[in-house]
Amino acid sequence: MKVRASAPGKAILFGEHAVVYGKPAIAVAVDKRAIVTIQEGHDDNINIKIPELDIYGVINPETGLLTEKGLLSLQNTDSELSPVPYEAGILEYIQKALFNSAISTNDKLNSTWTHGIDLDVDLEIPIGAGLGSSAAITVATLAAAARYHEKQFSPEKLAKMAHQVELDVQGSASPLDTTLSTHGGFIYFTHQNGGMMIKPTLEMPLVVGYTAEPGNTGLLIKKVRKLCSHHPDIINTILNTIEDITNQARDAIINGDEEKLGELMNINQGLLDALGVNTLELSNLIYHARQAGAIGSKITGAGGGGSIIAYCPHKTQEVLEKLNTVENAFKVNISSEGVKW
Ligand code: MEV
Repeated sequence: MKVRASAPGKAILFGEHAVVYGKPAIAVAVDKRAIVTIQEGHDDNINIKIPELDIYGVINPETGLLTEKGLLSLQNTDSELSPVPYEAGILEYIQKALFNSAISTNDKLNSTWTHGIDLDVDLEIPIGAGLGSSAAITVATLAAAARYHEKQFSPEKLAKMAHQVELDVQGSASPLDTTLSTHGGFIYFTHQNGGMMIKPTLEMPLVVGYTAEPGNTGLLIKKVRKLCSHHPDIINTILNTIEDITNQARDAIINGDEEKLGELMNINQGLLDALGVNTLELSNLIYHARQAGAIGSKITGAGGGGSIIAYCPHKTQEVLEKLNTVENAFKVNISSEGVKW
């Protein structure tokens, strides 16, 4: 038996970090996906491979423990132990998804895997880039595991389970990324309503530039929390202002106000800097994008490394070329398709 599921990554336009404190956010699903294939195993273990990251992991199906991890290229050499790269942290999301207690109590999916499986991840999203790779891998793994066990979940339930996995691994996470990876589209997210699809009257020419430096979402959330505990009044004022920006941005998108949208992105960027999640490399990309004609540019996602997003009406090519001279960049194509399983 062989099953496959996939889920898209995302780019946040407004409200990252503030969304962890109950504020709204605006984000789009992108046409870069995580594709997870599960088939009956070649041995008694759960063998995970992520060729794009050169990573493998081995899980004991009975205990659910990750017993081995390292570089795929060194897996079968009998030289010294394979070094464990930073990106191997992604294995924890897969592990928690395969052994998700929400599934086991309700649907017995987690009743110990009765045989080994081979799980392969084909990853089109750069990791640690603020583009939702962990949410996409989590949603796709849950969906593939559910299919493998011939279980059906509503998208809402799947998104909830994926959010729980992110909470278990990171300690803290908003449901934004997992909502986008599940439902796809262009979303104005509030904690009360979940994701509400937005229909822009504007063209949305967006370019992402990503630094080689990965950002660790869990650590960055903690960093902001610490700053908030040191300066609660100031940081709460900033978070409330980001909320106002996000709400005004939603109206600008719906009403087609290009200039306002760009200005709001730049103001949001200033406040993300104030929250302590900016870096020299991100700033460099942000200013290069503006110099090449972007009317708005800011960090997208957790920051501390990762990516920026630039809004560049009539200047997409110029911004793309400029950012590619500094780091890697691509044009964002919004994906209306969420999880496929
Ligand atoms: C990460 O993509 C966005 C953050 O707001 C964290 C979260 O929403 O869980 C930084």
